[in-house]
Amino acid sequence: MEIKNIVVIGAGAMGNGIAQTAAVAGYQVTMTDIVPEAIERGKASIAKSVEKFANKGIIDQTQKDAALNIATSLHMDPARGADLVIEAATENQELKLELFTELSRLTPRETILASNTSSISITKIGAVTDHPDKVIGMHFFNPVPLMTLLEVVRGLATSDKTRDAVFEVGRVMGKEPVEAKDSPGFISNRILCPMINEAIFALQEGIGTREAIDTVMKLGMNHPMGPLTLADLIGLDVVLSVLEVLHRDLGEDKYRPAPLLRKMVDAGYLGRKTGRGFYEYGK
Ligand code: CAA
Repeated sequence: MEIKNIVVIGAGAMGNGIAQTAAVAGYQVTMTDIVPEAIERGKASIAKSVEKFANKGIIDQTQKDAALNIATSLHMDPARGADLVIEAATENQELKLELFTELSRLTPRETILASNTSSISITKIGAVTDHPDKVIGMHFFNPVPLMTLLEVVRGLATSDKTRDAVFEVGRVMGKEPVEAKDSPGFISNRILCPMINEAIFALQEGIGTREAIDTVMKLGMNHPMGPLTLADLIGLDVVLSVLEVLHRDLGEDKYRPAPLLRKMVDAGYLGRKTGRGFYEYGK
């Protein structure tokens, strides 16, 4: 089945990045969110990003216009006519299961239902729908327009056809799809979040300042960003939620979230999106 029409659920950093990249690649895109301000912020973020790409000649006027004219909606009804729905709502299992129950009701059998979840089981998400063979993980990376990886996660019931269709969409979007098993954290967060957690333990134990820890990983390991700066970019609430899934589902103490991480999330210091995380960002 040819994918033409994509609906993205959620207009946050991941949702608007996915919507932008899909529109630039030539898909008909609708971005939905229940919060009107989130749609406005998402559109502003897309406008800023495509302006940069257009100024550098990376995209042409038609692609820029496609991204600027993405349709938006405050409800999920447009999913009725979608070939592919990509859910990029908050990383909360209960919420995602509710959304997929509703999406299963709204969409025809042929529609592929993908989740951008960074840690929740695709098998579990598929089980609340009446076509789990069409449910798959499409895990993008922040900032979506710049990061080339697409981690594709197959649930127990996901069909080969669904996997092949999603690999194709990923490639058209300029991404390099890599397949991972449906296991807590998949490949990416099984490795990344424990590293970030260890950096937070190091900070908590006073082994180095935030700058020292980040500089070691940047200059010593050639990471583009230090782990604490990266945690601020991802969102400390997201990092905590991934670690909780790893800790609970893999049952090993090595995944225990650092108490400092919990404290910062409790304080509302969630990183760039709230203006304060391990660093301060102003308003
Ligand atoms: N759209 C268009 N252009 C953008 C942009 C965007 N959204 N964001 C940045 N740019 C541009 C900048 O304007 C800049 O352009 P110039 O060189 O012309 O000035 C260029 O990209 C580079 O940006 P910066 O100078 O700000 O910084 P940088 O060189 O460090 O690159 C980065 C930024 C690509 C984000 C790089 O730091 C990086 O790769 N960091 C690691 C990001 C990462 O690991 N992401 C994955 C997080 S994990 C995740 O998302 C999933 C999960 O499940 C938790």
